[in-house]
Amino acid sequence: MVAKTDAIVVVDFGGQYAHLIGRRIRDFNVYSEIVPYDGAVEEIEELRKKYHVKGIIFSGGPSSVYRDDAPEKINRLFELGLPILGICYGHQLIAHVAGGRVKAADRKEYGITLATIDRPLGVLKGLKRKEKVWMSHSDTVYSVPSEYLVLAHTENCPVAALKHRDRPIFGLQWHPEVTHTENGERMLHNFIFEVCGCRRNWVMGDFVKRAIREIRQETGGKKCIIALSGGIDSSVATALAARALGKRLTAVFVDHGFMREGEPEFVKKTFAKMGINFVAVDARKRFLQKLKGVTDPEEKRRIIGEEFIKVFEEVAKRVGADYLIQGTIYPDRIESGFRRRSEKIKTHHNVAGLPTKMEFRGIIEPLRDLYKDEVRRVAERLKLPPEIIRRQPFPGPGLAVRITGEITPEKIKIIKAADRIVREEIERAGLKDGLWQYFAVLTNTKSTGVKGDARAYGYTVAIRAVESREAMTASFAKIPYEILERISTRITNENPDVTRVVYDITHKPPATIEWE
Ligand code: XMP
Repeated sequence: MVAKTDAIVVVDFGGQYAHLIGRRIRDFNVYSEIVPYDGAVEEIEELRKKYHVKGIIFSGGPSSVYRDDAPEKINRLFELGLPILGICYGHQLIAHVAGGRVKAADRKEYGITLATIDRPLGVLKGLKRKEKVWMSHSDTVYSVPSEYLVLAHTENCPVAALKHRDRPIFGLQWHPEVTHTENGERMLHNFIFEVCGCRRNWVMGDFVKRAIREIRQETGGKKCIIALSGGIDSSVATALAARALGKRLTAVFVDHGFMREGEPEFVKKTFAKMGINFVAVDARKRFLQKLKGVTDPEEKRRIIGEEFIKVFEEVAKRVGADYLIQGTIYPDRIESGFRRRSEKIKTHHNVAGLPTKMEFRGIIEPLRDLYKDEVRRVAERLKLPPEIIRRQPFPGPGLAVRITGEITPEKIKIIKAADRIVREEIERAGLKDGLWQYFAVLTNTKSTGVKGDARAYGYTVAIRAVESREAMTASFAKIPYEILERISTRITNENPDVTRVVYDITHKPPATIEWE
């Protein structure tokens, strides 16, 4: 019998930092989940079946305690008897529910602030008298009732940290999860280990064993199928399922023709030797056929998604699989709004669209609780090749969303060659590890050039290189000019149809990472 993994639950009040708090907790090898404040008690009860929930963190949020319905909704959370840490809005909420005075601040605090630690207790144990903390709030706690102690203050905020006299309930007006709070990590560490008594038992080795056992149990000797793209998520899910199922697993690799140069061969070589059934479908012609004359980005994504499902369905029927395995990861579930409504920016094509159309006895998502870097750690445990572990994310529709306008065989050839050059040069310059993604885009703009003393009229290629943690936001990378120069020279020299190369200097937001 394996002991349950300890967990901290982050109650999300709509702040931009809930994920960051979740990530920080996992960095301590403690499991974390984010739940919306609405229905949090029910979610926690559900989580308790699988995890040993040891504490709750209230995230920040854009609201005001006296304007919304959160206070009534969280009352029951206090009755669970678990330690609580409120951050920013969460801190104000604790004070408000207790009957303290919270109101719009006379002076808003934003940025790095000096806090005076009056009582270095609990979450603030071991801290200096003066601490640099990161603040971002317009409401302020002015007083708390007598059952609460004030642990810290700032120039404009009389109750910047609080603690219940007898119970493990804490509040911090600042954000310990943001790196600008100098000892933020220490504060979170204090809460997780000293206050909640967590053990560091969220480890990837255990995860691998557990996942394999669960896949075996859930599928009960039946056949399973997985769509394998060669990206890290579906590769890891395939490798885990391969260990659990062997020949009962069929991995389907659909070559839609928009893969990077060398990719189909690489995926075939890597997975064909895993002791599973491996089916590679060359569907290049049918995808191109369907996309003829299509220029609208969303239309392209929709067609590719649909065609993908058709190809996959055909194989699934042939194989007679009962279960579908998917490489869905935690942010996918959060972003696809499984708990929260989220605005649709673009139709992400991944295998998540499959089950709505297809009939399976069940769907298994072994990576459903993991963040990307945890998936990478699992990949290391499974000894997947470094090319898979460290590869940059690649969109499901592939290079098709990096060709603006109609997709033609000529354009595919140009983008493949340009993409290879970008990869080669960035990797040769040793810049790869600092970048989230780096690639070429073939724009639909033609421009005049001069090649070999003659007028040339050819395509414009854009280079995109970004830094990011989670792809939710990204900054364009400040690639040295010499590298950009080399890329531009090679692309125009090696591609007779390209006359111009530009560098994309837009952050996300306002741009997205991919062009379509
Ligand atoms: P955007 O372009 O929305 O992309 O800023 C964010 C991240 O997601 C990748 N991306 C996709 N991944 N299917 C995927 O699995 C898709 O359809 C898709 N579209 C974009 C993109 O490469 C970036 O890392």
